[in-house]
Amino acid sequence: MKKTDKFSFQRIPAPLLSWYRENKRQLPWRQNPTAYAVWVSEIMLQQTRVEAVKEYYTRFMSVLPNVADLAACEEEKLLKLWEGLGYYSRVRNMQKAAKLVLSYYGGELPTSFEELKSLPGIGSYTAGAISSIAYGQRVAAVDGNVFRVAARLEENPTRISDPAYRKYLETQLSAVYPQSPKDCSDFTQSLFELGALVCKPQSPDCKNCPLNGLCRAYQNGTQEQYPVMPPKKEKRQENVYFFLIQTPQGFCIRRRDEGVLKGMNEFPSHVIENDETPENVLNEWGMYEFTEINRRKYRHIFTHIRWDILCVWIKTEHAPFDAYTIDEIAERVSLPTAFRQCLSMLEGEIEQLKFDI
Ligand code: ADE
Repeated sequence: MKKTDKFSFQRIPAPLLSWYRENKRQLPWRQNPTAYAVWVSEIMLQQTRVEAVKEYYTRFMSVLPNVADLAACEEEKLLKLWEGLGYYSRVRNMQKAAKLVLSYYGGELPTSFEELKSLPGIGSYTAGAISSIAYGQRVAAVDGNVFRVAARLEENPTRISDPAYRKYLETQLSAVYPQSPKDCSDFTQSLFELGALVCKPQSPDCKNCPLNGLCRAYQNGTQEQYPVMPPKKEKRQENVYFFLIQTPQGFCIRRRDEGVLKGMNEFPSHVIENDETPENVLNEWGMYEFTEINRRKYRHIFTHIRWDILCVWIKTEHAPFDAYTIDEIAERVSLPTAFRQCLSMLEGEIEQLKFDI
């Protein structure tokens, strides 16, 4: 095949579907792929590994089995179900969308791609996944896996961040979708699966790929050059104090009202400017009488920011924030991982603390 020939995606569905049926993983969201199940799983899978999602998905579906339950769920309970998955706006948007689906579509996700895409948090990828996997429509869903598979197949030099490239792939792939609804559902998933199991970012397993006979990158040994990624942005670095403020009622927790994790709970924190000490910050908050118990360094990496954290554990009689017991923090209060990791400071002392506080 000459390299200048236009690559045709037409030949990929047949071998890919056979391969998928032999090799697919048993995943909880594949058992009964209703529109709601596909929606929940795809939103979870957007920034999170399959292995990590499995348990969250199963719990979420047992607590909130349908759109109406999601729409009615109390915010703190919802955030607790999502705790540790990160990118909490995903679940907030899901709840907004669920309320709209209840008002405008009688509680069933709409069946048209355009209507799906008009809902909060549902972009062309999620709308494509729901349309094809749940409704069997001939609509592609292009995620990172699919970009990688497709870019290698045709050695496409376009950056995956280019919106025109996504559009191009959606059009090219949608045009070769099989005719039967079941095959459409499987074809979308076969692309995800090939990207996850065979056409991996590093060391792809090309010898065992059902598409190796068609793949230009394989023929030319250029697999690792595709897909072409956007240049990596430097992360902003911040030094932050966290305070584990232990009062007779428990540990202080408040809502963040700005910055990353806005609207989420936190152990009172402060981005350090100049040479502020922990004491300076506590004084700013009106706290003058406290005893420091311990301090420990942590790090947390977000998509665009890196936090270097000094967590300071103090004891005091009075604090200007609400406090929660360790049991409440374990069972009821949602706390993002950046903060929750600091509970390791209390290890070995938690049993004791239950009696202390
Ligand atoms: N990655 C994104 N969506 C997926 C799915 N439905 N199954 C497995 N991996 C995925």
